[in-house]
Amino acid sequence: MGHLYSMASEVAARIQKICDRKVDLCVILGSGLGAFVDCLEDKVVIPYSDIEGFPRSGVHGHAGNLVFGRLHGQDLVVMQGRIHYYECGDIKLVTLPVRILHCLGCTRMIVTNAAGAANAAFDAGELMLITDHINFMQASSPLVGENDDRFGPRFPDMSEAYNKVMSEALRQSAKDLGIKLQEGVYCAFHGPEYETPAEVRLAQVLGADAVGMSTVPEVLVANHMGMKVAGISCLTNKAAGLSESKLSHDEVMETGRQAAADFVKLLAEGIRRFQ
Ligand code: HPA
Repeated sequence: MGHLYSMASEVAARIQKICDRKVDLCVILGSGLGAFVDCLEDKVVIPYSDIEGFPRSGVHGHAGNLVFGRLHGQDLVVMQGRIHYYECGDIKLVTLPVRILHCLGCTRMIVTNAAGAANAAFDAGELMLITDHINFMQASSPLVGENDDRFGPRFPDMSEAYNKVMSEALRQSAKDLGIKLQEGVYCAFHGPEYETPAEVRLAQVLGADAVGMSTVPEVLVANHMGMKVAGISCLTNKAAGLSESKLSHDEVMETGRQAAADFVKLLAEGIRRFQ
């Protein structure tokens, strides 16, 4: 387990050799949402492939860059793309980037994703503030195994996995910008197949408003390390069984692109208010 700690610190040190800016805030961008980096100033773009030990995603729509930048006078670091559990079957690897970001100094994280709307009242193209989650990945928890107290406690509290102050800043930002922002519970399946209609009904019974294949492991690890987290889902489609059409990654990407303008505005305004 000391292994994970030294691995995260070593990768962070390699990154700091390329860019040694102090960063307190990090953003993880999901499928089709990479355009957010266009609004950053003073960018330093580091492909994951240039950072030895940084997990890489092979999914189309995930650029695979670590981007340092400045927004509203605030330094931040952005992950343009992430590795998913379904790509590697290794939940520790999936969450290693968050450990690395913490080693870089990040204490706050905004996590984003593309998700299917499981709440029948929500529409494709809308954004959703994540207020809570359900870990339905059945990939166990990234915190299973010997605990390293340098990261955090054995039994971390998850009663406010999504920070209320940061979430309120996003809520108010949406209101002021006139952007419709749904709110709800994100349920993570491990994928890569989309859910069956029966699984979506199960998720609804469990209290889910959105279904996806990411985010939860990263949020668990961030909370383990005492980081404050806020989350936004881009609802790229109605979940399986809630519309006539079949699901496709192309549709997910296209709807993500269409919602991107609002998404970028909301994120930028939320970040301004976090200060
Ligand atoms: N299910 C799971 N993941 C997703 C979906 C979905 O409907 N849409 C985008 N990512």
